[in-house]
Amino acid sequence: MQDVLRTDRLVLRHFTPDDAPRVQALVGNWKVARMLARVPYPYKDGMAEQWIATHEARRLSGEGYAYAIAEDGDLVGTVGLDRADGAYELGYWVGERHWSKGIATEAGRALVAHAFQRLPLAKLTASHLVENHASGRVLTKLGFRYIAEAEIWSEARREKLRGLKMELSRSRAGAKLLPASEMAR
Ligand SMILES: CC(C)(COP(=O)(O)OP(=O)(O)OC[C@H]1O[C@@H](n2cnc3c(N)ncnc32)[C@H](O)[C@@H]1OP(=O)(O)O)[C@@H](O)C(=O)NCCC(=O)NCCS
Repeated sequence: MQDVLRTDRLVLRHFTPDDAPRVQALVGNWKVARMLARVPYPYKDGMAEQWIATHEARRLSGEGYAYAIAEDGDLVGTVGLDRADGAYELGYWVGERHWSKGIATEAGRALVAHAFQRLPLAKLTASHLVENHASGRVLTKLGFRYIAEAEIWSEARREKLRGLKMELSRSRAGAKLLPASEMAR
């Protein structure tokens, strides 16, 4: 996977330790954390540093690929892939101030196109809480289709919640997304 992906508006790059305070501020927002599976709340000092410190080893082992989403040099969110049950799962969050500007869709589209170009994948998976209509919309725009209901553990809320699983096949991604060469300049 490339170190940097570029779209019209965004740069997707690796996180550095300097990003930690900004990550803590953005994901430490209840409105963001409450929709995520693995992010605790409150998001305490040191958690962002710890998370960022795992990235290189996860990249090297192929366990996962986390990208910082930067707009005009500003860190506004993250998008990544995590290996789970033999497939890669797409995940993302965007800081509240930056919602509804198409950022998750643009970043997700670039990463999905690049992943199918670089990794021998038959499909990508994703899931979202039933109540998370914005995320369902992002995934639908990327071409993902609903495949099953699921219970999702929320680390922030400390309970299991109703969720929906989705997947995107390579052939559907090819039909739905721009060629990866155009996205990963
Ligand atoms: C979900 C999230 C990543 C979306 O990021 P974003 O950059 O605002 O997404 P986009 O602007 O690309 O697309 C959002 C879409 O959802 C729609 N939307 C937003 N709020 C909505 C709501 N309450 N109900 C229905 N649709 C909604 C927007 O109108 C847009 O769709 P459109 O392009 O058809 O108009 C962001 O809200 C977020 O980080 N939420 C908290 C964390 C999270 O939920 N992560 C995903 C976990 S599965």
